[in-house]
Amino acid sequence: SNVHHYSFILKETNFTRLCFTKPMLTVNEQFPGPTIHVRKGDTAFVNVHNDGQYGVTIHWHGVKQPQNPWSDGPENITQCPIQPGKNFTYEVIFSDEEGTLWWHAHSDWSRATVHGHIVILPEIGKTYPFPEPYAEQTIFLASWFNTDVKELIDDATLVGGDPDPSDGFTINGWPGALYNCSNETIYTLGVEYGKTYLLRLVSGVMNEEMFFGIAGHNFTVVAQDAAYIKPIVTSYIMITPGQTMDILLTADQSPSYYYIAASPFFDSGAPFDNTTTTAILRYTNATAVPSSIPFPSLPSTTDKESADNFTTKIRALASEDHPISAGNCSGPQGNRLAASLNNISFSIPTIDILQAYYRFNLSRDDEFPNQPPVYFNFTGDEADDYILPEVGTKAKWIEYGASVEIVYQGTNIGNAENHPMHLHGYSFYVVGSAYGNWNETTSPATYNLIDPPEVNTVGVPKNGWTAVRFVANNPGVWFMHCHLERHASWGMDTVIIVKNGPTNETSIRPPPPNLPTCAA
Ligand code: C2O
Ligand code: CU
Repeated sequence: SNVHHYSFILKETNFTRLCFTKPMLTVNEQFPGPTIHVRKGDTAFVNVHNDGQYGVTIHWHGVKQPQNPWSDGPENITQCPIQPGKNFTYEVIFSDEEGTLWWHAHSDWSRATVHGHIVILPEIGKTYPFPEPYAEQTIFLASWFNTDVKELIDDATLVGGDPDPSDGFTINGWPGALYNCSNETIYTLGVEYGKTYLLRLVSGVMNEEMFFGIAGHNFTVVAQDAAYIKPIVTSYIMITPGQTMDILLTADQSPSYYYIAASPFFDSGAPFDNTTTTAILRYTNATAVPSSIPFPSLPSTTDKESADNFTTKIRALASEDHPISAGNCSGPQGNRLAASLNNISFSIPTIDILQAYYRFNLSRDDEFPNQPPVYFNFTGDEADDYILPEVGTKAKWIEYGASVEIVYQGTNIGNAENHPMHLHGYSFYVVGSAYGNWNETTSPATYNLIDPPEVNTVGVPKNGWTAVRFVANNPGVWFMHCHLERHASWGMDTVIIVKNGPTNETSIRPPPPNLPTCAA
């Protein structure tokens, strides 16, 4: 395996989109930021130098970082922020991931502009489990805000309310043709007739699940979250914030121009951005731009059935037994003004949890209730004030090597939404999901233990449940949260602490020497 070195300079640079020019924080003045290229099992050292105006951290989303939570990144969970003028070198350790992941800032809402791809090729001498594509292309879906994202969230936090929805979405940094004032560049993917392309799609969107499609073309989804799946031939996908999908596209239609488009899936009436971002698929031997470029027929914004139809098709490539049996760890309860897990609305501490744990050798057995404190009909329409969560900083302690099952129970309180739940330090098997309340006796009988997809982010239906399993074989302090930034800011977060095992190989490594210092 190889070692790679990258230099990331965080800096405010002016960008203009939708006729608004604003200084925004980016890496190396790129939006999206630079792509990290590695092979399976490699290590990347990324020196992050902060030339911005406030402290920031970077997270390597979906990279497990065995024994190395020090380089995982979430602010005040595994490190204190890199202050302006300072730098920190992350050691990003790849293990079994292969496919597409991404990196993003992990301080407040800074990930809106500070993000980029991670491309993980097979080891030298190994091939993809599908025919070698002619070429590859990274595709990044993001949210665009005309105003400064830090001000947006700071204002919203001050008034205890909901930040304004985004002003648009972008594909590889460009909003496309359907916005007012979108006379700017549109991202164009050039293809040669008859060739097959591997598109590495990341959703770094802030608050919406997205449908994505390409006019006139079906395509084949072959991987999700850097793990291969059984190929799915489809005309559209649904992707939640945080997820990645690898797609094979064969340019086999009449050589011309076609729209690529993404628009939100949102199954309730809360305010949100329901605009459509576009890009162009252009055959290199197309003769002229047609008078009307064909547009993909994406499912409508509230088309839950199409969203489910796609999501329920996802199965791991390999079919094998996943004999993890586990007690359950119970699910979240949420309400509108605060979001919570197990009725605790997480408050990001002002210290760094990992350092506190490591240096003071904490060993509290359990600071997270094992069962929801009050049973109620999660998916009934309960009054908003039925349960008010308590605010706190709690962690769930897990023994090294334990088999863990987590049941995420979505609720239907207030303007509930689906929750893309993400766990750091691990990927997990999605063994079951259904609408309604999870039931101890009947639900496990429906689990798929043969080819459950292995992911790091899973969409939990707002009025249903999702059960996931993993073996706690990566010691450390790991953040778990909803990847909708609104919900994460409201406290739909928690920390799991996987204790050290008996040997050095099963314990956290010592901290790197240049770990950012925490403000006194
Ligand atoms: Cu993609 Cu905690 O993050
Ligand atoms: Cu959520």
